[in-house]
Amino acid sequence: MNNIEKLIRERRSVRTFDGRELTEEDKEKLCTFIETIDNPYNLPIEFKLLEKMGCPVVVGTELYVGAKMQDAPQFNEAFGYAFEKLVLYAQSLGMGTVWIGGTMDRGAFEKAMELGADEVMPCVSPLGYPAKKMSLRESMMRKGVKADERLAFDDIVYWNNFEQPLTPDAAGKLFLPLEMVRLAPSAVNKQPWRMVVMGDIVHFYLQRSKNFRAGKLDMQKIDMGIALCHFELMAKELGICTEFTVAEPNISCKNEAEYIASYTLKLD
Ligand SMILES: Cc1cc2nc3c(=O)[nH]c(=O)nc-3n(C[C@H](O)[C@H](O)[C@H](O)COP(=O)(O)O)c2cc1C
Repeated sequence: MNNIEKLIRERRSVRTFDGRELTEEDKEKLCTFIETIDNPYNLPIEFKLLEKMGCPVVVGTELYVGAKMQDAPQFNEAFGYAFEKLVLYAQSLGMGTVWIGGTMDRGAFEKAMELGADEVMPCVSPLGYPAKKMSLRESMMRKGVKADERLAFDDIVYWNNFEQPLTPDAAGKLFLPLEMVRLAPSAVNKQPWRMVVMGDIVHFYLQRSKNFRAGKLDMQKIDMGIALCHFELMAKELGICTEFTVAEPNISCKNEAEYIASYTLKLD
């Protein structure tokens, strides 16, 4: 995948498709790419294309992609990371996608995925080519969650502790990887990711939104996986090597943000 910054800046959720089926070539490219998708937790994830499916917020395609995995610790974050790679690759082929974790007949999708008793299928996405004009329902949904807005950089990025916001200017070489996190999609556009930069390490925290219910399937932990994906891909494109770790740094936080993972930058 090339030009990650462009893909991330251009991506938006697509819920209105133009009715065309995917070309065989695009389908094949997508299936080949799926075989290469990894995640930093090294948890196996199985993707499947599902035909003749539907969901209430989507019009103009009946093709979906779902993914399932074993119910293991950190499966939500791993899923978010891996599925976002698929989303960005689909974007590079000119396809539209939208993360769907809530607005679907979950039973129907789990059946189509042949979900085992010890497996989970957190989200799916439709696949197709975006229509020129959004449905009225889609534009209303976007307004409802302020889908075109994001928090400011220094509302979500800090240095050394949660008391000191980091401005874009002060972020230096980390600006773009962190900016790509800021532009990420998140469930109900809640943007729960918070990052604390300490020297060459970036710690990722989850600031859970009020009234956001999370059971075993945790959409906000999936959001965190998406954040890790955007950060790592952008850093890589800039030639910055990163090492993934999960080791709580015990930074004190008034808002009780939950530690998720860290990237250490390998600078020569
Ligand atoms: C984990 C996750 C779950 C989501 N679930 C749904 C959903 O069930 N239905 C829906 O219409 N959009 C869903 N979305 C899409 C978000 O509403 C959307 O990403 C957000 O409003 C930002 O808009 P954008 O993707 O166009 O940038 C989900 C997004 C994420 C990341």
